[in-house]
Amino acid sequence: MMPEVRAAAARLAAAGVASPRHDAEQLAAHVLGLSRAKLVLLDRLPAGAADRYAELVELRAARVPLQHLTGTAGFRRLELAVGPGVFVPRPETEVLAGWAVGSLAGVREPLVVDLCAGSGAVALAVADEVPGARVHAVERDPHALAWAERNVNTRARAARGHLDLPVTLHRGDVADPALLADLTGTVDLVTANPPYIPDGATVEREVAEHDPAAALWGGPDGLDVVRAVERAAARLLRPGGRVGVEHADTQGESVPAVFDRPEWTEVADHPDLAGRPRLTTARRTG
Ligand SMILES: C[S@@+](CC[C@H](N)C(=O)[O-])C[C@H]1O[C@@H](n2cnc3c(N)ncnc32)[C@H](O)[C@@H]1O
Repeated sequence: MMPEVRAAAARLAAAGVASPRHDAEQLAAHVLGLSRAKLVLLDRLPAGAADRYAELVELRAARVPLQHLTGTAGFRRLELAVGPGVFVPRPETEVLAGWAVGSLAGVREPLVVDLCAGSGAVALAVADEVPGARVHAVERDPHALAWAERNVNTRARAARGHLDLPVTLHRGDVADPALLADLTGTVDLVTANPPYIPDGATVEREVAEHDPAAALWGGPDGLDVVRAVERAAARLLRPGGRVGVEHADTQGESVPAVFDRPEWTEVADHPDLAGRPRLTTARRTG
């Protein structure tokens, strides 16, 4: 490992960063415009990159999220643009996206609605992995929506030969009973990673200081927006359509309970890769 990167990892460890070596390497790769794997080919950080690297390491030590410093977050097969004003997509949400993709197997040209879209991570992953899907994404916060627009447009440019944008964005509130009224009763799948942290809970510094408050806090029990998602999904889905909602690992009973209504069948909860309950799914009754 380059001595500058070793020193940076020690600096980040002392600052309480959870993955100091990974982050020190990722920042070096970013500054040099290389993949992390290629760092082993270098003995020293080139002199011209040292100042910028030191600056980024100090910002990371001050707990600015790694993804805000590199400007990107990997999500399934995609690299998304992220920064101040939008929630950084998390690896655990790939479980929701993966379930969504699998649940659409055999559905021709499925109609999908992603609520609480943020950067557009879930909506874009579904559009990317389910050929023919028509995906609508809803976000209330204009700052987050601007990041989603950037990601949708980048993706559209990348998909050469396709004239249509992969995802249609809507500025809207999940709690609005008229949201996407023209799609009522026609949607095959609704996904949502809503804000679900109970008000007043303790979160890491990176999260508290850099993720937008609107992306985090879900009211006294964390379920205010989950309840709105359930109502919106019940209205939008066709009979037999499905909904998937991410939740905190402490909500493996309370979120399925939100779906304990005659509108739903096959209510189930699913663990993430670490075995913690993180995803509630249900099917709209006929
Ligand atoms: C946890 S973030 C998830 C973002 C993205 N889906 C992801 O998984 O990375 C939740 C998002 O929901 C948005 N949001 C919060 N309340 C909302 C509401 N009532 N209607 C629509 N969007 C809302 C927030 O602005 C934020 O972007």
